[in-house]
Amino acid sequence: MSQNSRTMTLADLRSQRWFGAEGQPGNHKSYRTKQMGYTSEDFQGKPVVGIINTWSDLNSCHTHFPQRVEEVKRGIWQAGGFPVELPALSVGETYVRPSTLIYRNLLAMETEEILRSHPLDGAVLMGGCDKTTPGLLMGAASMDIPVIYVPAGSMLSGHFRGQRNLGTGSSTWKALADFRAGKSDEQTWRAFGEGTARSPGTCNTMGTASTMTALADVLGMTLPGASSIPAVDSTHSQMASNAGRRIVEMVWEDLKPSRIMTRSSFLNAVAADMALSGSTNSLIHLIAMARRLDLELDLNDFAAASGKVPVLCNLQPSGQYLMEDFYYAGGLRALLRNIDQHLDLSCRNVTGGTLGEAIVDAETYEDDVIRPVSNPVYPSGGLVVIRGNLAPRGAVLKRAAAHADLLQHTGPAVVFVNFKDMLARIDDPDLEVTKDSVLVLQDAGPVGAPGMPEWGMLPIPKKLLEQGVRDMVRISDARMSGTSYGTCVLHVCPESRVGGPLALVQNGDLIRLDATNSTLDLLVPEDELSRRRALWTPPPPHYGRGYGALFSEHVLQADDGCDLDFLARTGNTPDPEARFS
Ligand code: FES
Repeated sequence: MSQNSRTMTLADLRSQRWFGAEGQPGNHKSYRTKQMGYTSEDFQGKPVVGIINTWSDLNSCHTHFPQRVEEVKRGIWQAGGFPVELPALSVGETYVRPSTLIYRNLLAMETEEILRSHPLDGAVLMGGCDKTTPGLLMGAASMDIPVIYVPAGSMLSGHFRGQRNLGTGSSTWKALADFRAGKSDEQTWRAFGEGTARSPGTCNTMGTASTMTALADVLGMTLPGASSIPAVDSTHSQMASNAGRRIVEMVWEDLKPSRIMTRSSFLNAVAADMALSGSTNSLIHLIAMARRLDLELDLNDFAAASGKVPVLCNLQPSGQYLMEDFYYAGGLRALLRNIDQHLDLSCRNVTGGTLGEAIVDAETYEDDVIRPVSNPVYPSGGLVVIRGNLAPRGAVLKRAAAHADLLQHTGPAVVFVNFKDMLARIDDPDLEVTKDSVLVLQDAGPVGAPGMPEWGMLPIPKKLLEQGVRDMVRISDARMSGTSYGTCVLHVCPESRVGGPLALVQNGDLIRLDATNSTLDLLVPEDELSRRRALWTPPPPHYGRGYGALFSEHVLQADDGCDLDFLARTGNTPDPEARFS
């Protein structure tokens, strides 16, 4: 039950500017709504609640959304609202190219403008597949009307020929390495993939989707614990209709994102991210989301939490289990209870209550899945922020998913000038590479690639795979899938395309990674780097026009969240005066 009181009257609702307008403007909205078969009783005098749905036939993670929309609508009707479904870009991670990060920003713009331009008093946001969570919440934060997030939930655990607990991404990357090393045939490898994707829902590891929906939950934007529910569990349907009921009350309470997402709640999310050993993508997304609310959040906040909060979530790719196990072990609420000393429990959520109230009765039922502080999966945070002369503005490493022997490593660079160069040469038998080499990928950043695709887990060269090598130090300005693993230093900032030091690395240069001391250095004298810098020229732009050009010309670097500069800045955007139309 909400602890908030109703502060809004019918006359205060945005939708009344459309439906309540005098004369022809209001009459026009009324008879056009009846054109759709609704009666006056259906919509007059009620809050209008949008359902922003990222379903499409090319988002395999959201295939259950048509049914969930009906469940959300049921809740909205029951609570006295008028539900209207509005489709939005689905950003299916599997299909969208060249990079879903580019379209995160487009979804954020679309969400904000859908909310602004229509007669909506509040909205239910439906997403889950990687970029949809930050995209929807960034747009909603900028618009700042009441919203509640309905996360898609994870797919079922993978099974294949007696092997259980197969994780989307994490297990398939390993199967791919075995296939490339000649340890399995193509038919087996393909069938294995099918065994890892068995139902609607998002990737079942602690990849980007599970991380971002969990962090939306920590931020207070979902019903408490909603992010842990598997997509096809009956409680997921119940959560959807509960969200529909709750959003109507949130409208009357004027419970907006800016009253829920504060700097303290973002610091809670950062702490939870460490305990989850969440996706490296989360750094970019959380910073972008916070900046939409004009809140301070930067890599220093992640570095501080990384030193304090242990990994307690034993999920792939850093651990053993999957999201189904996590839910039945107690889910996110149980995990948060185990790290409550690192959280501000007074932060508010969509219920109107506090985080403390949301987790006070949470229990852990499987303490190997959700570990106590006394028995962590990893003694410090899963993610480490790294700086040095190769990454002056920072980089990130998922150390809990890296090989421990490589966390302090010095080796000679093997440089690929872009992704095509890497694809062309990585399996060349003549490539001069050993297990001690450091693989470097340039031109894979926000502007360079463009959109820093998830290329950061560079494949191990085939000839090393055949020798049994399964991890190497890899460095790039790209991102990596949250389901990936290995000693991959990512998001090197500034990126090589804008002249960052990564652009200056040449074959044979020694690179020193010291994850213990959070440093990454190119061991080349400064006068030599100056000489190279003077000779360096940027490659030509990818786009001459269109959204790609808009993105490339305005995208911020990874440490600033890769938002578009004109969306990240503060400033007034007038709400339309629809009564005059
Ligand atoms: Fe959609 Fe992984 S592909 S969540």
